[in-house]
Amino acid sequence: MILDGKKLSEKRLEILKEHIEEAGLYPRLATVIVGDDPGSRMYVRMKHRACERVGIGSIGVELPADVTTETVLEQVTRLNEDPFISGILVQLPLPAGIDTEGVIEAVSPEKDVDGFHPVNLGNLFSGRPRFVPCTPGGIMTILSEYGFECEGKRAVVVGRSIDVGRPMAALLLNADATVTICHSKTKNLADEMKSADILVSAVGRARFVTADMVKDNAVVIDVGINYDAEGKLCGDVDFDAVVTKAAAVTPVPGGVGPMTIATLMENTFRAARLLACNPVL
Ligand code: GUN
Repeated sequence: MILDGKKLSEKRLEILKEHIEEAGLYPRLATVIVGDDPGSRMYVRMKHRACERVGIGSIGVELPADVTTETVLEQVTRLNEDPFISGILVQLPLPAGIDTEGVIEAVSPEKDVDGFHPVNLGNLFSGRPRFVPCTPGGIMTILSEYGFECEGKRAVVVGRSIDVGRPMAALLLNADATVTICHSKTKNLADEMKSADILVSAVGRARFVTADMVKDNAVVIDVGINYDAEGKLCGDVDFDAVVTKAAAVTPVPGGVGPMTIATLMENTFRAARLLACNPVL
C-alpha cells in the first residue's frame, strides 16, 4: 500500500477550514526567514499558501542573511507581544553566526507552532504534548488515519534530530510502541531496522533504506528529501524495491511533506484557540 500523504493532507485541510470557520476565530501565522536560501523561501511560500487555503492569516518577516542575533530576537519578541499573531515559525536553518537555540527559546511556548521550544519538547517527552513538531505529528496522523496501531509494536526511528527523530520517538512511545532510536554510531544498523514493525527513516541519504533492511509487512515512513546522482528527487527509501515487501510505504514526494504543512496549520489553529482562552487584551 502507498500511504498518500498528499490526499490525506487535502482532507485534513478541508476539515480544518470548516473548524476554523465554525470557531469564529481568525488565526494568524507569522513566519520569520533570514537570508535568501531558495529552498527555505519555497517552503515558506508553501506554508503561506496553505494558510490562505484554510482561512489562516499570515505575515512574513524577511531579514537579510547578515543580520545579528539581536535583530532576530527583537522581531521574535515583537511577534510574541502582538495579540493578533497566534503562531510564530522561524524557518530553519538560520545562517551561521545566528544563535539558533537562543532564537528558538525566545519564541513564546504558547505561539511555538513548530514545537521546537524546550518547554514544548519537554511536555512531549513527559507524555503531555501541547505543540508537537509538524513532521512527526503529521506522521502520527498518517499512521492513525490509515488504521495502523502503534501499541505493542516495535518502532525504529533512524535519525536523532530535534525536529524529527527525537520527537518522533517520543510520539511513538506515547502511543505505546517499543521504540529504538538509531543514529550514525549505531552498531548493526541494518539488523535494528529489520526488527521494525514501524520504520521511520530521517537520514537524508538517497535510497539508503533497501529492501533487505525491511521486515516483511513493516510500515515504512520516509522523511528524506534527497536528490540522486541524476538530480531526481527521492527519499531515504528505495521505494520501488521496498513497496513490494512492506505493508505500506510513504512516497517522496507526496508522503510526509504535505502532512508536515497540514500539521502546521492544525498547530496554528490550536495556538489561536489557546490565545482566545487567555486573551492579552
Ligand atoms: N526547516 C525544515 N523543516 C522545518 C520545519 O518544520 N520548521 C522550520 N521552522 N524550519 C524548517
